[in-house]
Amino acid sequence: MKFFIDTANLQEIKEANDLGVLDGVTTNPSLMAKEGITGEQNILDHYLAICNLVDGDVSAEVIATDLEGMIQQGEELAKLHTNIVVKIPMTINGIKAIKYFSGKKIRTNCTLIFSAGQALLAAKAGASYVSPFIGRLDDISVNGLDLIAQIRQIYDNYLFDTEILAASVRHPMHIINCAEIGADVMTGSLKSIMALANHPLTDSGLEQFLADHAKGNK
Ligand code: E4P
Repeated sequence: MKFFIDTANLQEIKEANDLGVLDGVTTNPSLMAKEGITGEQNILDHYLAICNLVDGDVSAEVIATDLEGMIQQGEELAKLHTNIVVKIPMTINGIKAIKYFSGKKIRTNCTLIFSAGQALLAAKAGASYVSPFIGRLDDISVNGLDLIAQIRQIYDNYLFDTEILAASVRHPMHIINCAEIGADVMTGSLKSIMALANHPLTDSGLEQFLADHAKGNK
């Protein structure tokens, strides 16, 4: 399972990368705005800074909603760095843009996936990744993990090579459950990734080992 971090914060990306298990980064317009990155050139520069930090896929989202605009912005983003994956929202124009980019061998991440039908359509158009937002489904009392399982089944039935990128991951159990179901990738916060390392028995066990070692060496 690949681990992506879902942030535009360079410090958090660096910290996750230093752990040695990071495979990529996802961003979205809200995450970019949260870091105060505004204006076309600053946004492009920021994507480049992320690509230079991490040796892995970096999802950069188009803002346009018309087909021509999506293609123009996507081509500009793809030109920035070989790590860039063009992130495109799940709309009819988005599907057409994914089909276009797939023909040009430009990788895409179809975002805002909330149903198996959307994931099927994106895979048929040639998306490299689909991003089902599991946390946002959980927020409205729909089990996000069920959607991951449904998409896994469909992609396995027809051997689609589109990767399932579980997004809107909110906590370490989401990561573990997605791994059990067979999501190809998960994207989550630094906190959710780091939390995988924690267990109180590890802490107390280590404390005991160190205390015994200190006693024995008095
Ligand atoms: C995925 O690519 C999105 O950026 C992200 O996972 C959305 O998560 P949220 O629901 O926590 O905003």
